[in-house]
Amino acid sequence: MAKAKTAFVCNDCGADFPKWQGQCGECHAWNTLSEIRLSGPASKSASVRSTGRSGYAGTTASVQRLEEVAVVDLPRLRSGFDEFDRVLGGGFVPGSSILIGGHPGAGKSTLLLQTLCRLAAQQPALYVTGEESPEQIALRANRLGLPTDQLQLMAETDVDAILASVEALKPRVLVVDSIQVVHSETLTSAPGSVSQVRDCAAQLTRYAKQTGIVLILVGHVTKDGSLAGPKVLEHMIDCSILLEGDHDSRFRTLRGQKNRFGAVNELGIFAMTDAGMREVTNPSAIFLDRSEHIAPGTTVVVVWEGTRPLLVEIQALVDDSSLGNPRRVTVGFEQNRLAMLLAVLHRHGGIQVGDQDVFANVVGGVRVMETSADLALLLAVVSSLRNRPLPRDWVVFGEVGLSGEIRPVASGQERLSEAAKHGFKLAIVPKGNAPKKSISGLKVVPVSRLSEALEACD
Ligand code: TYD
Ligand code: MG
Repeated sequence: MAKAKTAFVCNDCGADFPKWQGQCGECHAWNTLSEIRLSGPASKSASVRSTGRSGYAGTTASVQRLEEVAVVDLPRLRSGFDEFDRVLGGGFVPGSSILIGGHPGAGKSTLLLQTLCRLAAQQPALYVTGEESPEQIALRANRLGLPTDQLQLMAETDVDAILASVEALKPRVLVVDSIQVVHSETLTSAPGSVSQVRDCAAQLTRYAKQTGIVLILVGHVTKDGSLAGPKVLEHMIDCSILLEGDHDSRFRTLRGQKNRFGAVNELGIFAMTDAGMREVTNPSAIFLDRSEHIAPGTTVVVVWEGTRPLLVEIQALVDDSSLGNPRRVTVGFEQNRLAMLLAVLHRHGGIQVGDQDVFANVVGGVRVMETSADLALLLAVVSSLRNRPLPRDWVVFGEVGLSGEIRPVASGQERLSEAAKHGFKLAIVPKGNAPKKSISGLKVVPVSRLSEALEACD
């Protein structure tokens, strides 16, 4: 008999390797490889027998023309939070599966408990908890003053038991918190391993598709922000949403990473309060906590952070230097880049800061690695040097080249939409990023040379 084939799969990113190794070659996590048995040819294929030269015999799947497919426009279920609905593309679509990822303590359980308690008043809903006890959940619901009379609750981690209960209770909305603790007795691998998570999620999503229920899975993310467990989870589900937030901040952002029923660039903002998750209706107030009085030397830039636009404020201070070798100090930027940009400013903008100390800072402890902040940094320097503030509703982005040209950056349209969404009225952008269609409420000033950008600020 042939030896059973095995492979080693990383529990974090799902990459597979023929041999065991201490560190995953893909995501560089340590000690995350576990051995899985590769199944042989599926038994189903026995039903498709080869009949020699004439081709295949066996049951054929039903085939229909696209126009024959019955389209039922099912109404979406509202979560009760406008911010959540917007990220979903207008609410939960019946029969869809949604994955909500986030760090521990981000507020996934709280957000879903609040959502489900409200939804349960209109539809039968079931909350399956694998991490907290029913008492803990009840305590939280009571403390938050949520309606608890309709929501069904179950503490279970066995996927077969979950599906059996779902079959009996027939809920319209099902939450599984979290998918990483769900396991199946029929699989030999350890709970939490890639194959367990993948197969359990596949069983649940298949059931959701067949019965038309809304399935919401909770997933944990790893330190670098990717979804723990196999990447394949993201292929199976219809909608992947990330709940993010710093531990020292009470604000949380909900962002779609994949959505089969809506746009992915939507952002929902919440605040974690002592009364649970609250929607934030005026988000520009958070990222840019700017006072009415804007000091000279500050500009706002839209940077692209991984997969998302982020508005950050840049500050510069230019002051007479008492040193023979004036200082160039940066916090959140690369120092050499500042020196280079100041040289471009002198050579192509005609503005001399050779006898001045220049300090540059990104507000809020953000690190800007991107070149899109070049122009904003230079305009902040000029604003400080001239002691003239830029209007508070201006936003700037663009890369500055060594010959004084302003180069376009990736995802210009998304950056401009983000700025418009946060209430900015004017954007100085590279010519290559000028939008084809005008964006409502936002005036775009396209520039191709540094001198044009400086003129625009005069
Ligand atoms: P939780 O929903 O349990 O996070 P997750 O399921 O994503 O791991 O949220 C827990 C955190 O939220 C915890 O640090 C306490 C805080 N919290 C509040 O600040 N206010 C509240 O009303 C609740 C319920 C939680
Ligand atoms: Mg939780």
